[in-house]
Amino acid sequence: MMSYGYKPELSEGAVKCPIFQTSTFVFQSAEEGKAFFEIAYGKRAQLPNEELGLIYSRINNPDLEILENRLCLWDQADDCAVFESGMSAISTVLLEFLKPGDLLVHSNPVYGGTDHFIHHFLPKIGVHTLGFQAGEDQEAIEARIQESPYADRLAMIYVETPANPTNDIIDIECCRKIADHLKDQNEHVYVAVDNTYMGPLWQHPLQWGADLVIYSATKYIGGHSDVIAGAVLGNKELMTRVKTLRTFLGNMAGPWTGWLLMRSLETLKIRMEQQQANAIEVAHFLKDHPKVASVHYLGLIPKESPDFELFQKQYEGPGAMLSFMIKGGEEEAFRFLNALKLIKLAVSLGSTESLAEHPKTMTHAGMEEEQLEAFGISDSLIRLSVGVEYAQDIIYDINNALDQV
Ligand SMILES: Cc1ncc(COP(=O)(O)O)c(C=O)c1O
Repeated sequence: MMSYGYKPELSEGAVKCPIFQTSTFVFQSAEEGKAFFEIAYGKRAQLPNEELGLIYSRINNPDLEILENRLCLWDQADDCAVFESGMSAISTVLLEFLKPGDLLVHSNPVYGGTDHFIHHFLPKIGVHTLGFQAGEDQEAIEARIQESPYADRLAMIYVETPANPTNDIIDIECCRKIADHLKDQNEHVYVAVDNTYMGPLWQHPLQWGADLVIYSATKYIGGHSDVIAGAVLGNKELMTRVKTLRTFLGNMAGPWTGWLLMRSLETLKIRMEQQQANAIEVAHFLKDHPKVASVHYLGLIPKESPDFELFQKQYEGPGAMLSFMIKGGEEEAFRFLNALKLIKLAVSLGSTESLAEHPKTMTHAGMEEEQLEAFGISDSLIRLSVGVEYAQDIIYDINNALDQV
């Protein structure tokens, strides 16, 4: 994460990759400019060892390319595209792989912004949508899809696992099986996974058969609550499509965002490991607190639960995101949130400082009342993103705030 893909000799020997704050790049000759555009616009295949030269920062930029190459390592992907937000990464994937008449099957719940795009934008362009919930097995999901009048147009299964904010988990390998089982003779059914909650460390969806993995890089990848960004990874063929649409929507990240994310990647692993170690302690403290009704955390899945096997298979750690139900309702939840001193009352997640929020009235406020209820996003649910602070300080703050409820 510190040197991969960067050649100091191309940048006056600078140890760190500079910020290439430039909109356009000089070609050495007209012939070279022509060759670069032939590749960028897909007019001919790239020759062996031929690289796409630098053209224009909406198409490519060294800060983005080096960052993308480094991100590929975590998920063992062929290619990556970085965006100016997680939502632009998500919306670009949905727009590229869905067309009018298609059916999108998605897990529930998903991040509020994704939910809005799926339910309020996609129907406007004639895309049909169908949700399923964690806990439904292959047979149940397939039966649901087959009951839909649009079953023969199934084009994508979109999954968020663990789900924000409930930490429900979904079997990606099972989604791949469903996609392959129900695909029309020639059409591939894409499986896309939002892996934001697990960062690139604790879950690798491509390994379980996903075609595309998506991140809000605002979260663990950025990690300092100071940048908004997104990323998509997958094989060469699919990423060429994603990058082409990104070029024409113009929603790529800028060089400054790319540089910030590269700086963040240097500490990604140690940050995330510390956050996870803290979250394990926080979860165990909450579990035994008399004012807490239940804790949703991957590290607390009971061994006898069917989810335990899935957790062990699909995850490399329980992560640092948890949510819990406080005894009472909105009043008690708000009293707790207002009493926190160290933990910041703010949306977003995955950064160095601990953050707490109330999903029902904040991140997921746009969802219908009955949906919120069905997915367990209740008045008493509080979401915690555990940071890198000293664990006992976080617990002290939580304990103190609970005392005031
Ligand atoms: C799971 C998940 N996916 C996607 C997003 C959207 O990312 P961004 O805010 O970077 O656009 C978020 C934002 O909170 C999220 O939590």
